Amino acid sequence: MLITSSDPGSRSAGTGRAPIAAVIVLAAGAGTRMRSSRPKVLHELAGKPMLWHALQSAAGLAPQQLVAVLGHGRDQVGQFLSASADLPPMVTAVQDEQLGTGHAAACALAITGNLSGTVLVTYGDVPLLQTATLIALADEHAASGNAVTVLTATVSDPTGYGRIIRSAGGDLVGIVEQKDADSDQRAIREVNSGVYAFDGAVLTEALGRLSDANVAGERYLTDVVGIARGDGRRVGSIQTTDAVETEGINDRVQLAELAKVLNARLVRKAQLAGVTVHDPATTWIHADVTIGPDTEILPGTQLQAGTTIGSGCSIGPDTTLIACTVADGASVLRSHCHGASIGPNATVGPFTYLRPDAVLHEDSKAGAFVEIKKSTIGSGAKVPHLSYVGDTTIGVGANIGAGTITANYDGDHKFATVIGDHVFIGSDSTLVAPVTIADGAYVAAGSTITDDLGPGALGIARGRQHSVPGWVLRRRIGSKSAASAQAALAAAEVSLPAVASPSAAAPSAAAPSTAAPSTAAPTTTASTQGDRPA
Ligand code: UD1
Ligand code: CA
Repeated sequence: MLITSSDPGSRSAGTGRAPIAAVIVLAAGAGTRMRSSRPKVLHELAGKPMLWHALQSAAGLAPQQLVAVLGHGRDQVGQFLSASADLPPMVTAVQDEQLGTGHAAACALAITGNLSGTVLVTYGDVPLLQTATLIALADEHAASGNAVTVLTATVSDPTGYGRIIRSAGGDLVGIVEQKDADSDQRAIREVNSGVYAFDGAVLTEALGRLSDANVAGERYLTDVVGIARGDGRRVGSIQTTDAVETEGINDRVQLAELAKVLNARLVRKAQLAGVTVHDPATTWIHADVTIGPDTEILPGTQLQAGTTIGSGCSIGPDTTLIACTVADGASVLRSHCHGASIGPNATVGPFTYLRPDAVLHEDSKAGAFVEIKKSTIGSGAKVPHLSYVGDTTIGVGANIGAGTITANYDGDHKFATVIGDHVFIGSDSTLVAPVTIADGAYVAAGSTITDDLGPGALGIARGRQHSVPGWVLRRRIGSKSAASAQAALAAAEVSLPAVASPSAAAPSAAAPSTAAPSTAAPTTTASTQGDRPA
């Protein structure tokens, strides 16, 4: 679910809060600890790159400008940003050499020009920071009339962070980086989150005065705090209530840890919106997924990016939906579905594989061990067991027997199969595409259909049965099969006189000694199961 408000403009307008001039999201760093050919900020949690989460949270403030500072992997990151229709409009600034966070902020201002009003700075690798926290920071900044307001956190292990230095009276004095800190300063557990609100003019002016005379040889954005205070301006801070919000990701261990926290947040949000989630620990919900009320999610379910689920559905257990649409009242049981559309009250599973462009209309069914690709299943139509359906249109109310295969590929090209309304396909049929089975037609079980069938026609395409009575008694002497047959024949002989006169003996099972193969077939056999048309 999107963290951002769907109507971001109304927030600042509605509360009378001064608009935010810009949010600058720093994302130029290398991220070497990911050990990846992919830029760090494109690694995903909840189905979206960490940068996407950072930008969504920033966009929730409805800033006049949203700026992403790119450096390492900027071609890939830039491509992602321009391809993401679900991100708000933004500008990108390029930091060719990573000369420090202060230099990165200066690169952003070089693109935006001088900014007046409040400017926030956040990081592209801090994905759990919420819009509400940024609003609290901006509110404190405005209410206190600060030139700089720092978001701080108190952590059990402050290693690596900049330490918050306070006067005896508790006033924020400055920030000292780990590398530059003495042992007393290193003992401080209140740290800089790297998220700030600045007065735009103060920031612009102070960035021009940064020095790189520090252990890292970088231009530190953190030094703006000391510079502003030295100029006699007000600087302040707020603390996060939840330190996980300001945690950055540097390696894949942290990526998985924060992904779990984010997932718990998304599951909880769904639950509070009326979704029953039986096992939050084994339910994974991506950030852009929407789920209607009174839908039930069973354990082991993954609802991945681009999935939309209606209300009153049952999903899972052990089900993965990727970019699927599920309408109200549908159920999906122990299945893997990608790019499928599942209609109202349709049922899927268990053990069903729906592939891209599988479209199931209302009340239709895709049952056990059925694979469907690029096909439409009409309303009320059923594909209940063990079938492959590809490049096919199935009409309303059709029934596709167990083991039916649409042979859609000749090794070179794909071909279409059309199955009309209320068609009945007998079990274990192969429909060799291109082929059309018109409305109301029947296909006999076990057929290989290569020619079109007209409306209401019956197609049978299989060898005739040849039965040899008594073969087992002669050729499998002493076997358990022979013994069973012998016993059945003896029982039939004993009971025969009681049920019928000898001359009217039933021709099939009661006549084992007939030498010629029986050609008699019970006349009641359904045409699709027997071997001749009605
Ligand atoms: C920085 C802060 C530190 C704070 C910590 C919180 C400074 C000098 N230090 O630490 O006080 O506790 O964040 O995580 O700011 N980046 C660029 N260009 C650069 C350098 C960094 O875009 O030249 C980006 C990175 O991609 C990253 C963010 O800025 O998203 C922070 O960089 P990182 O190197 O992780 O932070 P530190 O300098 O270690
Ligand atoms: Ca970091």
